Amino acid sequence: MKVRPVNLAVGAEITDMSIANITDDEAKQVHDALMQYGVVFFRDQEMTPRQHADFAKRYGEVPLAQKASFGVDANAPEVSTLEYDRERPPNVNHFHPDGLFREHPEFASVLYAKEVPEIGGDTIFVSGHAAYEALSDRMKQYLDGMQAQNDFMKLHSRPSKKRSWKGEGGKGMAAARDANPPVEHPVVRTHPVTGKKSLYVCESFTSWLVGVPEKESNHVLSYLFEHLSLPEFQYRFEWRNNSVAFWDNRCTLHYAVADYWPAYRYMHRCSIRLGEKPV
Ligand SMILES: [Fe+2]
Repeated sequence: MKVRPVNLAVGAEITDMSIANITDDEAKQVHDALMQYGVVFFRDQEMTPRQHADFAKRYGEVPLAQKASFGVDANAPEVSTLEYDRERPPNVNHFHPDGLFREHPEFASVLYAKEVPEIGGDTIFVSGHAAYEALSDRMKQYLDGMQAQNDFMKLHSRPSKKRSWKGEGGKGMAAARDANPPVEHPVVRTHPVTGKKSLYVCESFTSWLVGVPEKESNHVLSYLFEHLSLPEFQYRFEWRNNSVAFWDNRCTLHYAVADYWPAYRYMHRCSIRLGEKPV
């Protein structure tokens, strides 16, 4: 297999490797590349939902998918199905690391493109580490040791998420809400493997800086959200059918560009947990 960085801030492409037929040695090299680049991309992967879940299981615990915002694959209960069309407009166009609202956020996600629009529907990945490094020393000092409150409902009470609460998915949403009351995490997260620091807040979930007056919290957070959206920290990945992105939620954010409605987009996703609490 070959690993080629695609950007100075984040991301590498892995070629000459089949996820469905991966060896132990290749799996280790994929993990090394993931640690170094934050997200790794693969093209032209043929894999069943079962093989997708088995790949994810090499790296941690893969929980069963819950029917809530997304569906569940009939053949592999660990695989979430993300489906968008005229009736279900794309609505994940916000920067976030997956699971920031959980006490033990998922470590990584593996997203597999089954059917993507002819044009549009890219995903933007952001290096939380590059964003942190670009802050002034004074701002780094200010944020050092600070906690933020993160809230599932900050995102999921938005009008754009209304349809998640309808029908059968609504039960899953209510369960996710009840299982994830607002939680505090450090604003700057230290990566458990690389030791690198990353900004670990996002507009979707982060509601307050703990111990800071409300107006100050609002202004500092809106500055950090704007800072995190700068192109210097981004790589924009153009999907094709059978592309895969495998990202580390501890040091990256992502944004699904919602520019392709009413075209159809269908993806499979597995989440990987390690039971870690951000530090
Ligand atoms: Fe996500």
